[in-house]
Amino acid sequence: MTTPSVRPNNPNFSSGPCAKRPGWDAGALANALVGRSHRSKEGRARLKDVIARSRAVLGLPDDYLLGIVPASDTGAVEMALWSILGSRGVDVFAWESFGEGWITDIVKQLKLTDVRSFTADYGRLPDFTQADFTRDVVFTWNGTTSGVRVPNGDWIDDDRLGLTICDATSAVFAMHLPWDKLDVVTYSWQKVLGGEAAHGVLILSPRAVARLESYQPPWPMPKIFRMVKGGKLNASIFEGDTINTPSMLCVEDALDGLIWAESQGGTSGLVARSERNLAAMVEWVARTPWVDFLAEDLATRSCTSICLKIVDPWFEALSPEEQASTAKKMAAYLEAEGAAYDVAPYRDAPPGLRFWGGATVETADLEAAFPWLEAAYDKVKAG
Ligand SMILES: Cc1ncc(COP(=O)(O)O)c(C=O)c1O
Repeated sequence: MTTPSVRPNNPNFSSGPCAKRPGWDAGALANALVGRSHRSKEGRARLKDVIARSRAVLGLPDDYLLGIVPASDTGAVEMALWSILGSRGVDVFAWESFGEGWITDIVKQLKLTDVRSFTADYGRLPDFTQADFTRDVVFTWNGTTSGVRVPNGDWIDDDRLGLTICDATSAVFAMHLPWDKLDVVTYSWQKVLGGEAAHGVLILSPRAVARLESYQPPWPMPKIFRMVKGGKLNASIFEGDTINTPSMLCVEDALDGLIWAESQGGTSGLVARSERNLAAMVEWVARTPWVDFLAEDLATRSCTSICLKIVDPWFEALSPEEQASTAKKMAAYLEAEGAAYDVAPYRDAPPGLRFWGGATVETADLEAAFPWLEAAYDKVKAG
């Protein structure tokens, strides 16, 4: 049993908060507008700059809106669900724990009754051909905890009557999104661009705005979710105002991430970086007999949250508890060796390992981690 000699330069493979961009240090925040009001001329200009650069890097259509909202991706999704749902039936698709969480919101918290839930086990996608686009359709683009992504938007009706609401937090900036198929899209800064946590982004199509201005949900709306005033969208949220106070340190960091994204050629460059990481993982998995992707279908394998399962008959013969503790021991060994941090799977996901392969991760770092994964496996198997 040999111990590898080379460690990744950056062993940060967490699926959120994700690795900072290559070369990042705290100096990137030196000009942050700390101690100043976000509503000052300068503060508002920084927020506007984040909005403008985000729109440009994402290639958002001119008539779509993008705003910075509280409480990260969860805040953005729940703001949308609470503000939009209830005027027609809802179809919701889930295949891992975050999608399951949106079903809970819709069924148990909002208590909507005309809801059809389509679910699939870890590793698979539900049957999207079941979607009825006379209804609102809620889904996640990339299932972060199963590493299964939607391969494309071809299943979404161009002439839909309902709205599509897409949690895209671990997809945007690493996967191409078909904007014309999506009415509400959410993400948080802490994912693909390696930003800081707690700030969310909400994108609205013109049809989503029309819904907001024509439908008033029957339930109380917390201030933090309120984006409509007197039947009109509060447009200032999409122009640099925020509902409550953002961190200007996080704003500066988001700007740094976006400027880096621009230097990589925008979304196309970022997608290429992430796909290179997935390709490296595919190559390693192909030559490593004990490991496989949790995602069963090649077309659905995520290039960001890359989830692996252990397929060795020795491992498969273990009890579920032993499998979970074995996978945890591998992650603990990788961490103790400084070879890979935070690669244990999400608490509700099957035992295995999860590596983030988003745009901020260098392929060479991922490749340097592979021999350590092999060493970790040999060690736990040998007891
Ligand atoms: C698909 C998905 N949805 C929602 C969330 C929650 O994001 P946040 O913690 O930014 O609110 C995550 C976080 O990992 C996620 O991966």
